[in-house]
Amino acid sequence: MATDLSVTFTGLKFVNPFLLSSAPPTESDSNIMRAFDAGWGGVVTKTIGLHPVINVKGPKTKFLRATPDSSRLSMQKRPGTALHSSWNWELISDKTLDWWVPKIERVKQAHPNRILIASIMAGSGSDRELAHWQELATACQDAGADAFELNLSCPHMDRQDMGSNIGKDQGLISVVTKAVKEVARVPVWCKLTPSTTDIVAEARASLAGGADAIVSSNTFPSLPLIDPDTLDFEMNVDGYVSSGGLGGPAILPQSLAKMAQLTQAFPDGRFSGIGGIADFGHALNYFLLGCGTVQVCTAAMLDHAIGPNVIKGLIAGMTEFLERHADRGWRSLEDFRGLRRDRVVSHSQIKRPDTKEYFGGRDAPEGYASV
Ligand SMILES: Cc1cc2nc3c(=O)[nH]c(=O)nc-3n(C[C@H](O)[C@H](O)[C@H](O)COP(=O)(O)O)c2cc1C
Repeated sequence: MATDLSVTFTGLKFVNPFLLSSAPPTESDSNIMRAFDAGWGGVVTKTIGLHPVINVKGPKTKFLRATPDSSRLSMQKRPGTALHSSWNWELISDKTLDWWVPKIERVKQAHPNRILIASIMAGSGSDRELAHWQELATACQDAGADAFELNLSCPHMDRQDMGSNIGKDQGLISVVTKAVKEVARVPVWCKLTPSTTDIVAEARASLAGGADAIVSSNTFPSLPLIDPDTLDFEMNVDGYVSSGGLGGPAILPQSLAKMAQLTQAFPDGRFSGIGGIADFGHALNYFLLGCGTVQVCTAAMLDHAIGPNVIKGLIAGMTEFLERHADRGWRSLEDFRGLRRDRVVSHSQIKRPDTKEYFGGRDAPEGYASV
């Protein structure tokens, strides 16, 4: 039997489990169409909102790089470096809902069998703001969106009633999710912030509100580094900076830790993993913890804006992986999804050395070590 890369996730059939996450790669219909042509199984649009959006002056994203022969980490472009992370303080889409609706229609007409998830965001705490969520949802699903991803996780919001400020409040998470579920005819995914003490609590609130899937991680709150020569932040406007979001390779292990918490708490839940994915080996971590899809941002931004080579590598990697394990009867993601979920245990459950090898933290008794 041939390998099968397709997955069904929250009732939607994807040709493969690899999605572009909500970010610059999905900020326009032309990018999204290029992404589908390149092979991505689905896209999550750049977050759409109703409030006016004005980004900071100057660059919104930069990339932090490491050098192999020194400990230097810097955003300065220089040869022979390896990517450490992306850092951004970009807001949600600065295009209006009216701009987005015909674009979603166009994409779905051109690619009826590819999955487009509309990322949406509004405020909370008042009936007017909850109605905004419903207005966004209704317009996007009427235009043909296959699902929603609720942005409860943007880390750089001044408004206390938006983004990760909702994602840190279990009550608001449930209320917002419920409001969208009231009007949604398509699945609702909740994208949570990693910057809380116990992400399981926020996931529980999302599920209580009716969420069909949990998505993690958005970027981690962080600052750019200070240049030791100029004493300025490497990214600033007139010398000033504010907290932004870290993505890319640096957050892969951290996002995995969040995901392990989630998939263990809700073994039958549906999860979409994001954070630091550039190749199939990275994606495999999320699949083995139990994710049914994964999403990519930073690696795609650095590869012709929508990641044609990244998706090629992901598809080739998964095909080769399934072929290599064909003798185990593995044909699709469902055959290996979640296989390592139960290997993450509490520290006290990790085996200690035998007493003859362990001296209670003290030096080995003299004359014993050579035995
Ligand atoms: C420049 C930039 C803009 C982003 N904009 C959004 C957004 O509008 N909505 C959202 O939910 N996430 C947004 N994200 C977060 C990404 O979708 C993703 O969760 C994060 O970058 C981690 O994935 P990565 O490690 O592959 O970059 C943005 C990320 C970057 C770098």
